[in-house]
Amino acid sequence: MLESSEMNFERSESRMVSPNITENDTDDIEVGLRPKTLSEYIGQDKVKENMSVYIEAAKKRGEPLDHVLLYGPPGLGKTTLSAIIAHEMGVNIRITSGPAIEKPGDLAALLTNLSEHDVLFIDEIHRLSRSIEEVLYPALEDYALDIIIGKGPSARSLRIDLPKFTLIGATTRAGQLTSPLRDRFGVIQRLELYTHEQLCDIIMRSAVILGIACDKSGAMELAKRARGTPRIANRLLKRVRDFAEVIGNGKITEDIAKIALDRMEIDSLGLDNLDKRMLNMLIRGYNGGPVGLETLASAIGEEAVTLEDVCEPFLMQLGFVARTPRGRCATALAYKHMGYEYKGGAADNTQQTFFE
Ligand code: ADE
Repeated sequence: MLESSEMNFERSESRMVSPNITENDTDDIEVGLRPKTLSEYIGQDKVKENMSVYIEAAKKRGEPLDHVLLYGPPGLGKTTLSAIIAHEMGVNIRITSGPAIEKPGDLAALLTNLSEHDVLFIDEIHRLSRSIEEVLYPALEDYALDIIIGKGPSARSLRIDLPKFTLIGATTRAGQLTSPLRDRFGVIQRLELYTHEQLCDIIMRSAVILGIACDKSGAMELAKRARGTPRIANRLLKRVRDFAEVIGNGKITEDIAKIALDRMEIDSLGLDNLDKRMLNMLIRGYNGGPVGLETLASAIGEEAVTLEDVCEPFLMQLGFVARTPRGRCATALAYKHMGYEYKGGAADNTQQTFFE
């Protein structure tokens, strides 16, 4: 039930370690890689625990689930989790995205076609236009659509009742949501990057479903280079299988995984060429920063949003990049990983979070 917008492939997306959805990833849905129940879903424990309470309570009261906002970096399973929520509620899900809803009429058509308690999932909800948001407010609050009939002095407003539904909005940028829209979500959950152990479990589960022989140390090697993201982990699994079949005996072991990932130019921490270009420019081009994101992006010929949404969350999690009011800085850890000597810099004065 994917809308065309889910199938849109963004420009950065020939990267093996891109967290954005690519053509091959859509196969995951068909082969059943995506878990269907909360108990099958690995990781995001806090979110799962809370959501199962909200779901059970809503079902007990015979009410729709309150509107939910899921936010966090791409590829962490926001769409998957939404489909699970709908499944656990025993309702249908309609999937669309902010940019796909161009006119108020598009949203009206989606809303009027829902059944009672259904889930409407809007990906990239921060990209909804203001005029569409205006239509959404009464729909979220009163389950109603206000339609203007006619023009000028004779225009009249007509209110149409909608089925009671749940909106699940997903975004990589909660900060870009307008506050009236954000305030209308009763449940707001942040998805976190996955730990290596959780990714290892996801890879082992996917390997069983896909019939790929993969031992635990092989899965762990993939997990370590999947930058906290299940979508990347599953993609690496499929590509490393190719190496295992051609240069090995078909089984993914630690050795095969290392050879394959090195040949794919994904380093021991999951950094690829784009991350390295960004770090190199930051360190060598701007003396470790601080430098503005736009400047950095244009210096390496990339879009600032790609660096911000795709490279930065992971590089910050690793403790390689720090954000300061004056721009981005490379840390001592980044210098070390990239093979440069660190002589102190602006990053020393910032607080860091480190990958476990
Ligand atoms: N496949 C992708 N994401 C997953 C998750 N969180 N749990 C299990 N399988 C997955």
